[in-house]
This record gives sequence, structure tokens and C-alpha cells, in this order.
Amino acid sequence: MSALGHHMIDKHGRRMRKLRISLLDACNLRCLYCMPEHPVFMPQKDWASVKDMARITRNLVELGIEEIRLTGGEPLMRRDFVEIVHELSTLPVKKLGLTTNALLLAPYLQVLQHTKLQHLNISLDSLNAENFLRITRRDAFSTVMDAILTAKALGFAVKVNTVMMKGVNDHELSAFVEWSATHRIPVRFLEVMNVGVMKSQFQERFLPASNMMAMLRTDLQLNRLNDKPDSTSRNFRVSNGAKIGFITSESNPFCAGCSRLRLTPKGQIRPCLFMEEGIDLKLLAPEDYPAALAAIIAMKPIGRIPHQPQPMYQIGG
Ligand code: 5AD
Ligand code: SF4
Repeated sequence: MSALGHHMIDKHGRRMRKLRISLLDACNLRCLYCMPEHPVFMPQKDWASVKDMARITRNLVELGIEEIRLTGGEPLMRRDFVEIVHELSTLPVKKLGLTTNALLLAPYLQVLQHTKLQHLNISLDSLNAENFLRITRRDAFSTVMDAILTAKALGFAVKVNTVMMKGVNDHELSAFVEWSATHRIPVRFLEVMNVGVMKSQFQERFLPASNMMAMLRTDLQLNRLNDKPDSTSRNFRVSNGAKIGFITSESNPFCAGCSRLRLTPKGQIRPCLFMEEGIDLKLLAPEDYPAALAAIIAMKPIGRIPHQPQPMYQIGG
């Protein structure tokens, strides 16, 4: 921890050590649980520039941020994506990760191999091309699957994120566990969250992790792994060799162990996924960061806030 690290600890003892940077709100998929069919995105001129992102992030790393994840929208849609990664690769962080839908990933893999970005969390909600199309409204299953397997073969630390919905892809649960064992790729099942476009169909689609676990094949044994205290998933080694996890955002939120701050595409720091309050860091002098961060961290809720006025793609998953 840096000498200024105490600015990053809140009154509940939570230390902020992870930063999620949403690079833009636009996306090339239209996942049912995330986006309306015709979303309105912010103008590109509102995006913080590479220089702004790099400077802001450097200041935050000096205050104690140890892990950075790039998210969106779809981060690979930014044409300056590689430039951003090269900038962030110069920072002394333990981990630099990317959350992506992998539609544009394959052509980037060779370049990314030589950067600090080695952790890829890839969204994949179906193992079936037709169901993938139904969920994402784009016919891109094989592009995504090819990119996932190529990334794994090249040595990236790949994980798959699967948002589970009742009556949409829950019949694929066991297939995902099999797939995880076959390809040695951990799969994390996410409870769909009651935000944005999901609000009107949440009751119909929500499947708690406890139900997912009950749906697994009875011959499979689950052994709980030791997760870090600020882990957002509860992870298991399965007797068939798979590694799976559950992200229980709705049934058992992980706020008590939260160590995250968020940076929006406009360069605003936010205390929580579920809060619109934030501070614009683009023009802030380095000496003013500690006070700004202290103010932001003091706003962090201790439990799940029920209401998120903004849709997920604008704030990053
Ligand atoms: N519930 C759960 N996860 C969501 N995401 C978007 N909307 C939702 C939702 N309603 C997640 C996706 C993706 C990331 C960008 O945001 O899983 O990985
Ligand atoms: Fe795009 Fe991710 Fe939202 Fe799907 S969930 S539309 S991939 S931002």
C-alpha cells in the first residue's frame, strides 16, 4: 500500500484496490438483459482521451489501486484501445484485465500478448448458435467461440461469464459445466440483475444461484475453493474437472467485501455500480485526489442499493 493508502479505506474497513474502467457505452451486441434494441449512446467526443485515462489511472494507482479491469459497453470498439492498454501496461499494477464479448478479440490477441493485459473475462451466454443469436440479437457465436479458444491456446488467463436466465439458457447449465472441464476454462454463472431493461421481466427471468446449483447433474460433486475476501464470485472445483463460480449479485450481494471503484467513459470516478454520483477527475490536480477519493469512498453503500437509474452498458458490467 502507498503512504497515501489510508485515503482508500472506508469506515467499514474496506480498502479500495480494484478499478473498473468503462471505456465507452457502445456495444456491438444487443443482449436481452442489457440493452434495448435501439439504444442511444453518448457522443464519442465525451469519452475521456487516452491521455486523460492514463493520467487519471496513474494517480489512482499511486493511491493504492492494484488491479485494473477494462470494460464497457464493449471496450474493443474503441479504436484507441491498444494505445490505452500500452499506457496502462506501464503502471505498477498486479493485474490488468479485460471484460469483452470477444466479437472483435481475435485480431487483437497477438498484440495483447506482449502487454500486461493477460486476464480475459469473456461473456458467453450460450453454447448454441441459435440461442446465442436469440440472447445477443447478433449471429456471432462461432466468431466468439473461436476467439475464446484461441485466447486460451495462446496462454491468456481466460474466464467465461454466463448470465443465467430462467427459460432462456438455464437448460444449458450442465453443458457449460462439461464445456468448462473439456476446455479447462472457468465458467462463472451470473444472476441476472434487476437493472435497466431487465426491470420489466425480472420476476420471469431471475434464477437464484441456489436454484442453479440444484439444477446441476446429481453425480457432480462441488468443492468450494478459497476465494479472496473481496471476490465477487463463490468458486468451486467440480468432480468432472470443471471450475465454476456463482456471482450472486441479487440473492447475496458482495457489498461487505467490496474493494472496487469505477471510472466512467467520461472520466468520472464513482463509488458503486448502483450510484450515479461521481467526481470528474479529468481536470483534477494530483494533490486534490486524496480528498476527492475520500469523499467518493465515504459514499460507498454497505449494502445493495435497490435502484440503479442508469443502464448497465453505460456504467460497465
Ligand atoms: N445482469 C447481469 N449482468 C449484466 N450485464 C449487463 N447487464 C446485466 C444484467 N442485467 C453484464 C454482462 C456483461 C457485462 C458487460 O455486463 O454479463 O458481461
Ligand atoms: Fe454488449 Fe455486454 Fe451489454 Fe451484451 S451485456 S449488449 S455484450 S455490453
